[in-house]
Amino acid sequence: MKFFVDTADVNDIRELNDLGLLDGVTTNPSLILKSGRKIADVTKEICDIVAGPVSAEVTATEYSEMMAQAKVLAKIADNICIKVPLTLDGLKACKAIRSDGRLVNVTLCFSANQALLAAKAGASFISPFVGRIDDMGIDGMELISEIRTIYDNYDFATEILVASVRTVNHVKQAALIGADVATIPAAVLKSLVKHPLTDKGLESFLADWAKTGQKIA
Ligand code: E4P
Repeated sequence: MKFFVDTADVNDIRELNDLGLLDGVTTNPSLILKSGRKIADVTKEICDIVAGPVSAEVTATEYSEMMAQAKVLAKIADNICIKVPLTLDGLKACKAIRSDGRLVNVTLCFSANQALLAAKAGASFISPFVGRIDDMGIDGMELISEIRTIYDNYDFATEILVASVRTVNHVKQAALIGADVATIPAAVLKSLVKHPLTDKGLESFLADWAKTGQKIA
């Protein structure tokens, strides 16, 4: 499963990329707002750090305006993936942008039928928002299982990009189901490494090693 980081914070992106853990980045208008920077500047900087796809979202709702914005965003870098909303205009834009050879991430997916439409529109990625579904008291991961089954039934090439990830358990469930990608907040991604028995075990190995009086050199 590929790991994308869900942020527009270049410090976090640089740190995770240096660790060798990043396959891509997703941004959205709220994350750009949080960064306090201009979309063109921050997105260009992210694209210079990470080699994989960097999702940049259009903010228009009408097809021709989406296409005009997609053109502007695509000029930022070769690894820009255009993010469009799951609406009829967004699906139409998806088809057109894909036929120009660009990657497209169809976002704001909350149902299996929406994911089916995105695959039929040739989306490179579909982004189902598991955390926001959980917030409604429904298990968001069930949607990932449904989409996996549907895409496998018809050999759709669209990659399932699990979004709105909030917990390490979301990441584990996504991997067990066979999602292609998870886009993960930086703090959750870093906490995947944590286990109390790892810390305890390391502490006791280092204490015993000190008692040997040896050095590896
Ligand atoms: C990523 O592509 C999505 O925009 C993001 O994961 C949404 O996450 P949120 O529900 O935490 O805002």
